[in-house]
Amino acid sequence: MSNPSLGRSLSVRAPGGIAPVYERPGHQEFLADVLEGLKKPRKQLAPKYFYDERGACLFEAICELDEYYIPETETAILLENVREMADLLGTSVLLIEYGCGNCAKTRILLDHLDRPVGFVPIDMALEQLQRIAAELGHAYPGLDVLPVCADFTRAFDLPGKKLPDGRTIVFFPGSTLGNFDPLSARDFLNRIADICGPEGALLIGVDLRKDPEVLHRAYNDSEGVTAAFNLNLLLRINSELGADFRLDRFKHYAFFSPGESRVEMHLVSLDEQTVHIVGSAIHFARGESIWTESSYKYTLEGFEKLAASAGFQVERVWTDDRQWFSVQYLVRRRS
Ligand code: AVJ
Repeated sequence: MSNPSLGRSLSVRAPGGIAPVYERPGHQEFLADVLEGLKKPRKQLAPKYFYDERGACLFEAICELDEYYIPETETAILLENVREMADLLGTSVLLIEYGCGNCAKTRILLDHLDRPVGFVPIDMALEQLQRIAAELGHAYPGLDVLPVCADFTRAFDLPGKKLPDGRTIVFFPGSTLGNFDPLSARDFLNRIADICGPEGALLIGVDLRKDPEVLHRAYNDSEGVTAAFNLNLLLRINSELGADFRLDRFKHYAFFSPGESRVEMHLVSLDEQTVHIVGSAIHFARGESIWTESSYKYTLEGFEKLAASAGFQVERVWTDDRQWFSVQYLVRRRS
């Protein structure tokens, strides 16, 4: 079960009879994080808070956009190379996925793996997680599905006792690692290396540096879905924390910074204004921003160095013809 010392363990039974381990930040933690972030001289909010139910739906809508090339490109790489991947991953795999979303990519893997023993999908969006876990349980009868509703940017417990024995493979697609700044990315990979153990491996999707115009369009889509996704964070703070953000007084602003090799997403205040969140008044100057997300874009060499700093060795890299995205197979470095 989840770590009781965190004081937010809950037992939730899903329709399919699957009870996820539940370590999602609670209301108090959300409030504390929001206030802390908005009281900083450079206001910021963590991107993990995008994914309430509406945010998860909006993210799925982003994934349908032509401009947001990531899902399509990654899926094509997976489809084209999944046999080789399955060979490398081997038999009796215990698959652990961070930020599984709707598990569209996982299914490609599961369809080709040789008798996988278990699947641990980890995600913040509880309802989607429960639904997907139940669906996968039905679709793959021999597979033990053990969902964990957790914030994986922090340390949390896997359902240890219940995990079936197998080769631990961590699957981390979608370039979600891009949300971490370089130091946190290294820490996170270190934690994954521990979870993999000496015999396990990591299969990770890594977005690559490319024409800034392509990146700009991907985070400034013509239908405004990314803007709605970004602004949804304020809507969520209004509804869950009783704040009074006026959504028409903030604007989505995203750009690629070549120097930092990252896309930054911001919510920019269009006027000078004051927002109230449970007794705290937060002042915004005109043009002041809340920094809501970074998406780092790697070079293959840069990522290899990052991986090495966390004890991983890149064994195999698959990319698309345009070299826009990569899927990489990493094993623990033998010391
Ligand atoms: C899910 C973190 C990989 O950074 O590209 C999409 C989220 N933000 N459009 C990304 C996102 C804006 C996405 N990740």
